[in-house]
Amino acid sequence: MDNNRPSWTSKYAFIITTIGSAVGLGNIWRFPYIMGQNGGAIFLAVYIILICTICFVPLINELYIGKLTKKECVGAYESIHPNLKYVGSLNPITGILISAFYFIVGGWIINYIIKSLTSCNIANYDEYFSLFIQSPIYPCVLTLVFLFICLFVTARGIKNGIESANKILMPLLAVILIFLVIVSLRLPNANLGLEYMFKPDITKLNRHMVLSALGQAFFTLSIGMGALLTYGSYIKEDKSFVKSVYTIIFSDTIFAILAGIMIFPAVFSFGMTPNSGAGLVFVTLPKIFSQIPYGNVVSCAFFILLFCAAVTSGISILEGPCATLIERFKMSRQKACVVLFAIISVFAVPATLSFGLLENCKIFDKSIFDFLDFLTSNVMLPLNTLFLCLISGWYLRIKGSAIINNRLMAFLFNIGLKYVVPAALICLMFLGLN
Ligand code: PHE
Repeated sequence: MDNNRPSWTSKYAFIITTIGSAVGLGNIWRFPYIMGQNGGAIFLAVYIILICTICFVPLINELYIGKLTKKECVGAYESIHPNLKYVGSLNPITGILISAFYFIVGGWIINYIIKSLTSCNIANYDEYFSLFIQSPIYPCVLTLVFLFICLFVTARGIKNGIESANKILMPLLAVILIFLVIVSLRLPNANLGLEYMFKPDITKLNRHMVLSALGQAFFTLSIGMGALLTYGSYIKEDKSFVKSVYTIIFSDTIFAILAGIMIFPAVFSFGMTPNSGAGLVFVTLPKIFSQIPYGNVVSCAFFILLFCAAVTSGISILEGPCATLIERFKMSRQKACVVLFAIISVFAVPATLSFGLLENCKIFDKSIFDFLDFLTSNVMLPLNTLFLCLISGWYLRIKGSAIINNRLMAFLFNIGLKYVVPAALICLMFLGLN
């Protein structure tokens, strides 16, 4: 075993960092808008059921394979069978492609923080947002700034970079979120938003929505691109991690629900619609902020919240490919980060320009940004998880009882790993491709 490999300095460091990976744009940006498009409370109910029954399986599995092999993704798969290294290399590739579009949204967040700080009055938010993302230079610069910030943390290593950043940013994120929830709940008619979130309308239940909830659950738990495998490989040999997994899932779900409680009462209070899609956070919310007392302060707090969430997830996305460069290509961490900056820019810059200058450049009828989002979320993340479940369940024949003390959970783990999760993932990919 490689004695120079880093490991977590404490259990708390592991938990907070993994929660940091899970709680990201997926919770605060994606979850509310997907819930808004899928009927509110009923989506939440399905989502919680899926999280409790099947999503813990691939999460434990990925961390366990990391802990077992003590290697970065490609090496981990290779140590199971030499030919699997090709399958394993899909993980860092997914990481690089996800970062290309994740960091673009990070750049947008920086822009909105600056706008809130400079107290700019914007007359038309729809127009402002579309003009901003279409401009050729500024969004690119901000994407690269956001990438640089995340790589800067990654370059400082596990203890001084990743752990320290999470130990500062995650509590800050929690405090800001609670502040914003209180602000939102005090708005007139806030109860309409709460009803929308917690009063399920069973007639809205459908297959498409169940699969969207599943896709969202996998995305928000950071399953399927080797981030967790790499984080799992830093767990010390003697440490059990299963109880921490429950804490991670619970916290991630609470953050998502709080994000909903922060957004929907405000949306209903101002008579706006919750189903405006990706623009919910960048168009609908700024409109609301402009109408409430101390709106600039609230807006600034909100975008700082989004920024913290995006950074802690962003560094986990980078850690997988970074560890691969360090361990397989024998690079120093700093050099690996410089190389990653170059590689990710090659994808991120055209994706940023795909809203304006490269608008007409289509891949399978989609803009570069949409294509990267589609390819990673609908194809590569489920595919990587499917491979890992099949490898663990059918090739390594891993048994739940070897990892989990609780008999019922161990039983659910066995069935989930071999049958339920692979079947669900195949459905998810079919839905995504149709
Ligand atoms: N879970 C993160 C979020 O919710 C995104 C992410 C996906 C991070 C995959 C790492 C790996 O924003």
